[in-house]
Amino acid sequence: MDATTCSNSISVAKIRKTGCSIPVFLMLSKDKSCLGSPQILVCQNRTCRKAGANKVLKAFEQSAPQGIEIVGSGCLGHCGSGPMALVLPEEVWYDHVQPGTVGDIIRRH
Ligand code: FES
Repeated sequence: MDATTCSNSISVAKIRKTGCSIPVFLMLSKDKSCLGSPQILVCQNRTCRKAGANKVLKAFEQSAPQGIEIVGSGCLGHCGSGPMALVLPEEVWYDHVQPGTVGDIIRRH
């Protein structure tokens, strides 16, 4: 499916802003085949960083198999529950992620 075909099914969702300065917009598609390769977004904004998100990001980068892109993202809108991670295109959220739980998350997807 090409981008032209997919463009009609894509919607933009604003992730709620909860105290962080940068709201996050995600392109969410009803047709999952329109989305690219799997990604795991790992929030690197202030609150999540204070909770150890940089170590979580490193753990994902070291553990992810080829084909899964690991992205250090801006605020994902769930600041009190960080470190936060979002698996795309499934749109599965993980809160309070620790380096020791990264392997379990990767095995699930
Ligand atoms: S700082 Fe807002 S979700 Fe991480």
